[in-house]
Amino acid sequence: MTVATPASSSSSSTLSRVVVLISGTGFNLQALIDASSTSGLLPSNLVLVISNRAKAPGLDRARHAGIPTKVHALATYRKANKSRLEYDADLGQLVLEARPDLIILAGFMHILSTSFLDLFPQDSSSTPGTRIINLHPALPGQFDGIQAIERAFEAFQQGKITKTGVMVHRVVETVDAGEPLLIKEVDITPEDDLQSLENKIHNMEYSTLVEATNMMLLEIQADRSN
Ligand code: GRF
Repeated sequence: MTVATPASSSSSSTLSRVVVLISGTGFNLQALIDASSTSGLLPSNLVLVISNRAKAPGLDRARHAGIPTKVHALATYRKANKSRLEYDADLGQLVLEARPDLIILAGFMHILSTSFLDLFPQDSSSTPGTRIINLHPALPGQFDGIQAIERAFEAFQQGKITKTGVMVHRVVETVDAGEPLLIKEVDITPEDDLQSLENKIHNMEYSTLVEATNMMLLEIQADRSN
């Protein structure tokens, strides 16, 4: 069963198909699921959730919402002495089988190589078939990569910054370097500790991811009507 948004009058076959990749708790996935059941998300189908970790709690959120799930664990490839490129290529095939219009990396802690990305060309010259977006808890070019919130808090304590933020960007080979689609700033105050900053960032992430997803769904619809 797939989650079709209630507002949709169009049949599920014409709704944009969305695949979500996760690795952890899945709070951002939950924000998409909640939005899809409260008309907060434009008509679309969340058709598949894939995790690179078998124990990711986010998988239970998907199952609870009736969304098909798959686990594509890097650990299995390592045990079989298979390369990351093979892992990415097989992951790409798994995603292709779901025929997505949009791929959302929502806390997917894995850097995708060209073995995956080449299956979904994103360059502006050609009308992109399947769009790929990623959520990152920092401003463009500020703290790319992992532990972005911790690094932002450290920089604040060193008096280097007064704000950080959240962005959703198109995915390219260089981590967190694709074209930003939506940027939201988050002020850091002297009253903040790391936990309060994390809470502010995560709350901003949930609404930002839903908003950016709607932007992509509109872009896909516009492409279809051209
Ligand atoms: C989010 O903060 C995201 O920005 C980061 O990983 C976290 C995932 O959280 N890459 P969740 O799995 O959506 O709860």
